[in-house]
Amino acid sequence: MKQRYAFFILILTILTGSFGHAIDIKDVTFKTANFGKVIFSHNQHFRQEGIKNNCKTCHNAIFNLRGKTRYTMADMGKGKSCGACHNGKRAFDLNDCIQCHKVANVTIKVKETGPVTFSHKKHLSAYKCAVCHPKIYDMAAKKPATMAQMEKGKSCGACHNGKDAFKTEECIKCHPVKDVDFKLKDSGDVKFSHEFHTGMYKCGDCHVKLYLPSAKNKRMTMAEMEAAKSCGACHNEGKEAFTVKENCDRCHKM
Ligand code: HEC
Ligand code: HEC
Ligand code: HEC
Ligand code: HEC
Ligand code: HEC
Ligand code: HEC
Ligand code: HEC
Ligand code: HEC
Ligand code: HEC
Repeated sequence: MKQRYAFFILILTILTGSFGHAIDIKDVTFKTANFGKVIFSHNQHFRQEGIKNNCKTCHNAIFNLRGKTRYTMADMGKGKSCGACHNGKRAFDLNDCIQCHKVANVTIKVKETGPVTFSHKKHLSAYKCAVCHPKIYDMAAKKPATMAQMEKGKSCGACHNGKDAFKTEECIKCHPVKDVDFKLKDSGDVKFSHEFHTGMYKCGDCHVKLYLPSAKNKRMTMAEMEAAKSCGACHNEGKEAFTVKENCDRCHKM
């Protein structure tokens, strides 16, 4: 009962537009299928000249709280919803997508290699949203792409094909790697260089066959390496690389 009374007062206040002093109304969140969330801030709009606390500017002429109609960007282009003011005259233009649809760096989780970071900011200097959404990335029907699909022009491979942008062969531009330090108590630390090894091998030669792409792998003993585990898969009797049975100081920094 109490709630309904409060709501009645609120509607009445809106209709009469009679807020005397600064008020505080919580942000409204619009959800879209492909373009994330849009936050509408009442409080920021109350600070604008010509709006102030006058609810009637928007209610219910532009936004009817009873129906809560959903609009498309095309509707807005014709002066509905946000487009009533965001027309480049009264407020910034509708083409300024990211002022309303906030975008950030996207972290794409990849089990085999660790996360890939996609920077919207770096790509937006060259492309409009619609180049990628929903044509290349349909966020409503999101499916992970494999590298094989990318080589055939899907996902990042639509542009990272050696013509429009660097090729998918340049793995470490998207899958960053660093040196790995194995800290050892008595036998000298070991530094594993990704940069050196990825000059000869693909990520898939080691991940996830020999190592998960994390520091959470089981720790190995030299005896296990001599039985072809970890580094010993290649550093074996001089077949592929110098053996772990000797050459201690080539790996261990004493
Ligand atoms: C600049 C335009 C604008 C002004 C001015 C404005 N509103 Fe709103 N208001 C909106 C929009 C946009 C929505 C979301 C409508 C929707 O969901 O369809 C909204 C929604 C609301 C809601 C529903 C909130 C919810 O979470 O669903 C309330 C309550 C509300 N407004 C109260 C007020 C009051 C009180 C005032 C005056 C003090 C006011 N508004 C002034 C634009 C405005
Ligand atoms: C002034 C703020 C604002 C700007 C600028 C803006 N949008 Fe929107 N957009 C919204 C809001 C709010 C909604 C949700 C409307 C609703 O549900 O009633 C929306 C919905 C959408 C939708 C789903 C509805 C539809 O039209 O299919 C798409 C797609 C979209 N926006 C894309 C864009 C793109 C692309 C741009 C830039 C060219 C852009 N928006 C600029 C506020 C904005
Ligand atoms: C009654 C007019 C009006 C309506 C309707 C309106 N706006 Fe605005 N909005 C303004 C004005 C004026 C400004 C400040 C001038 C500018 O930034 O261009 C503004 C500023 C903004 C800003 C920038 C705020 C800041 O200071 O960072 C955002 C974001 C925004 N509006 C989103 C929306 C969205 C989303 C809608 C629709 C749900 C909407 N507006 C509807 C008038 C309006
Ligand atoms: C060069 C291509 C490209 C352009 C241009 C682009 N995006 Fe994206 N967007 C992506 C990729 C890639 C993802 C991540 C896809 C995934 O998670 O698999 C993404 C994800 C998103 C997401 C979901 C974010 C999340 O955290 O899940 C939103 C929202 C989004 N984009 C909005 C936009 C808007 C708005 C624009 C224009 C201002 C835009 N994008 C322009 C490529 C692009
Ligand atoms: C342009 C950026 C980019 C480049 C270059 C790139 N990748 Fe990827 N890779 C990704 C993204 C993004 C994903 C995740 C895609 C998804 O989830 O939709 C991924 C997924 C993967 C996967 C898991 C899916 C699969 O195909 O099994 C592996 C493994 C992988 N990458 C290895 C590599 C290797 C090896 C190279 C170099 C030959 C490489 N990547 C080059 C961006 C890139
Ligand atoms: C619509 C085309 C397009 C798509 C889709 C695209 N890129 Fe790009 N990307 C570019 C262009 C163009 C450049 C700049 C030219 C270059 O560096 O070769 C670039 C640059 C980059 C850079 C280097 C940025 C820097 O630091 O300077 C990275 C990393 C990158 N893209 C990752 C990705 C990933 C990951 C994906 C997929 C999730 C992706 N891109 C999808 C066009 C695209
Ligand atoms: C010659 C083998 C080898 C190749 C090739 C290789 N890695 Fe690794 N990677 C390792 C080893 C060894 C570790 C450390 C495992 C541990 O800490 O237990 C590691 C660890 C990682 C980690 C975790 C690093 C950390 O600090 O947590 C990531 C991420 C990773 N690799 C990604 C890649 C990617 C992407 C590629 C391809 C560009 C690649 N690796 C190629 C051997 C390899
Ligand atoms: C190809 C590089 C490499 C060579 C060669 C190598 N090691 Fe290691 N060693 C490692 C790495 C990496 C670890 C840590 C492995 C882990 O934590 O998973 C390790 C761990 C160890 C450990 C601690 C684990 C255990 O087995 O008790 C000792 C002791 C050790 N090495 C001694 C030696 C000696 C002695 C030699 C020479 C006969 C040698 N290592 C040659 C890379 C190497
Ligand atoms: C997939 C095979 C492979 C794996 C796994 C591998 N390596 Fe190597 N590594 C090589 C090859 C091949 C060379 C170059 C040939 C040589 O020097 O004998 C090399 C060279 C090296 C070198 C000399 C590089 C230089 O800077 O001169 C070091 C040190 C090294 N590996 C350490 C390690 C450590 C530590 C591990 C385990 C954590 C490891 N490697 C795992 C294949 C591998």
